[in-house]
Amino acid sequence: MAYYRSVGDVPRTRHTQHRDPEGRLRFEELMGEEGFSSDSSLLYHRGVPSAIVASEVWEPADQRTAPNHPLAPRHLRLHDLRTGSDAVVDRRLVLGNADVRISYVVTGTEPSAYYRDAVGDECVFVEAGSGVVETVFGVVPYRAGDYVLLPRATTHRWVPAEPSRLYCVEANGHVAPPKRYLSRYGQLLEHAPYCERDLHGPTEPLLVDGTDVEVLVKHRTSAGVVGTRLVHDMHPFDVVGWDGCLYPYTFNIEDFMPITGKVHQPPPVHQVFEGPRFVVCNFLPRKVDYHPLAVPVPYYHSNVDSDEVMFYVAGDYEARKGSGIGLGSISLHPGGHAHGPQPSTIEASLGVERFEESAVMVDTFAPLELGEGGLACEDPDYAWSWAGRRL
Ligand SMILES: [Fe+2]
Repeated sequence: MAYYRSVGDVPRTRHTQHRDPEGRLRFEELMGEEGFSSDSSLLYHRGVPSAIVASEVWEPADQRTAPNHPLAPRHLRLHDLRTGSDAVVDRRLVLGNADVRISYVVTGTEPSAYYRDAVGDECVFVEAGSGVVETVFGVVPYRAGDYVLLPRATTHRWVPAEPSRLYCVEANGHVAPPKRYLSRYGQLLEHAPYCERDLHGPTEPLLVDGTDVEVLVKHRTSAGVVGTRLVHDMHPFDVVGWDGCLYPYTFNIEDFMPITGKVHQPPPVHQVFEGPRFVVCNFLPRKVDYHPLAVPVPYYHSNVDSDEVMFYVAGDYEARKGSGIGLGSISLHPGGHAHGPQPSTIEASLGVERFEESAVMVDTFAPLELGEGGLACEDPDYAWSWAGRRL
C-alpha cells in the first residue's frame, strides 16, 4: 500500500530519540516488506517488541488437503459447515494449495485469540456480521461486504460485535491492488474501480496494559504451515504512534465501481486485489452488456492456467441458476475442465439489463486441493449439472 498514513505520536525525525512525558525512551520498530526494499511503517512502542518469555507449539486447525482427483468441478455449501466460534483458531480449511489457503469460520461475539500470520498477508472477506479488528496499528472496524487486509506479521485479534461469517484468504506473500491500476509511484489511477478514499485504516493508536500475553503465530517450516504460541513480556498493543505505508485496512464491495461494456467483459475487469500466484475479483450488482445482440451471461471458458473459486454472497448468480448453487456456496472450476453458464440461463439472460449478483472470486495459478472443511460440505451432484445426467 503506497499510501502514507501517520497515526498518534511520532517524532519529527525518524530514528531519533522519542521520549514519553516522563523522559523514558520509546522503542522504534521498522516493520517492512521485502527486506527494507518495499513498503514499511515505523512503530513507536512503550515496551520492547522482541521481549518474549515463552515459546511452545500451537497446533493450528487441520491444514491437510486432498487432491481434486479424479478431476471434477466442485460445489461446496459453506452454510452447512459447523465451526467453532473463534475467528482465528476455529477456521476450517476449505481449499488450499502451496500458494494460498481459503478457510471459513462463523464467529460468536467473544474476542478471538491474539494472532499473527507470519506466512503472508490475510485478505478476509466479511460475508456477514460486524465488529472491529484490534491491531498493533490501532482498531479497524469491519462490516458485511468488507475485505479486511491484514499485512503479514500484524499482531491482531477479532472482536465481533455480532456473529460474523468470515471467508479467509491466507496468502504466502503480499496482497495488494492490481499493478495495472497503479501509477509508477503507487497511486491508484483514474481507470481503477476504486481509489485511496475507499480504503480505511486505523485512525488512532490502541494502547492496552498487560503482561504475559499469548500470541498465536502461524508460520512455515519444511513441514508446511505450523503454529507457535509465543508469550510476550508486555502487551503487544503498546504502540503510541506509527507512520508509513504498511498497515491493515478495509475496503467495502459497495465502493467498487464495476466496469461494464457493450459486450461481455472478461473477469479481469472485476479484479480487486492480487497476491502471489492468485487474484481476487468481485462480481457485483451492475448494468450488463448493451449491444442489441449481447449475451449477458458469460461464454464457456477454459482457464487453462488457473483454478477458479466463486463464493456466492448475495443476490442471484445468473449464470449458474438451476445448478444447485445458492447463497453461501462455493464453486471450484478447475483447470482442465471448461465451465460456463447453466444452458437454460443463456436464452433467459437475453435482453436483461441488470445483474443483482454478488460473488467473490479467487483464481489460483496452481491447482487447488480440498481441505477437510471443503470435503465436509460438498454437494456430490454438482459435476453433472451441465449435462443433467450421470453415467
Ligand atoms: Fe469462470
